[in-house]
Amino acid sequence: MIKIYAPASIGNIGVGFDILGAAIKPINGDLLGDCITIKLSEEFQLFNKGIFSNQLPVNNEQNIVWKCWSKFCNVIKKNIPVSIILEKNLPIGSGLGSSACSVVATLVAINEACNNPLNSKDLLLLMGEVEGEISGSIHYDNVAPSYFGGLQLILEDTDIISQKIPNFKNWLWIVAWPGIKLSTAEARKILPKKYTRDICVKNSRCLASFIHASYTEQSNLAARSMKEFIAEPYRSKLLPNFFKNKEKIKKLGAISCGISGSGPTIFAISEDIEIAKKISLWLERNYLQNNTGFVYICYIDAKGVRKIG
Ligand code: HSE
Repeated sequence: MIKIYAPASIGNIGVGFDILGAAIKPINGDLLGDCITIKLSEEFQLFNKGIFSNQLPVNNEQNIVWKCWSKFCNVIKKNIPVSIILEKNLPIGSGLGSSACSVVATLVAINEACNNPLNSKDLLLLMGEVEGEISGSIHYDNVAPSYFGGLQLILEDTDIISQKIPNFKNWLWIVAWPGIKLSTAEARKILPKKYTRDICVKNSRCLASFIHASYTEQSNLAARSMKEFIAEPYRSKLLPNFFKNKEKIKKLGAISCGISGSGPTIFAISEDIEIAKKISLWLERNYLQNNTGFVYICYIDAKGVRKIG
């Protein structure tokens, strides 16, 4: 029996739409992500548990875990009978890479259970394929950080899909999920198909500035470069009072604030734990829409997916 944990992620991070993603871990030691327990068995079995298992489809064949298993068996051209327990600890449609967590944990677990027939590149390609079927188009900015950890730059080069870039170790990432669902596929559908040259130039400039600032350890420049022109202007209306809240969070001292993934989670960054706590409290009181919502202060999770049992 193997137990695999895959962490939540923020992708996009307010700059680098579909290109930058970060795995996160709460500073209080909580595991924010999904777990998969697997063992070889007589036939395929799937059991769901965890606080958000009530959001999973009733029919197991519509569960992401089943999709992963079925694709994996097709790739290795062998039917692998396994018994799987999915611990669904992340809300679905939250903007925290919930589907990516399940996909990464499941594929890594099945690969381990079969003595790793797939290498990490093939596994990541498969993760991207499953994620693409769920969200409407392939994007690696959640699966790559959840798999490899850290801050990942998606390259989609013929040999290298994604690589880790430096991140500011003193940045505290405050994430607030308001307790409502937003489908990634829907949040992608509302985006324009084309952008003007002016937007393309601004977007490239911010992404280049952010990468440059990350390598030259210019924290303030990096934070100032976290500007979003591709998704935020269109998705902001899907989140409760986004611009007003962003303004307030900046006033409280955040060096950056944006939509986590496709939302509705908001993230904010501070280098100061007291400011981070203040922002966290404000978000708890003002951004959560019901008592299922949550706020966490996080670091970047450097490890990514891991065996925890
Ligand atoms: N980069 C993707 C998007 C992430 O913003 O649509 C979705 O979780």
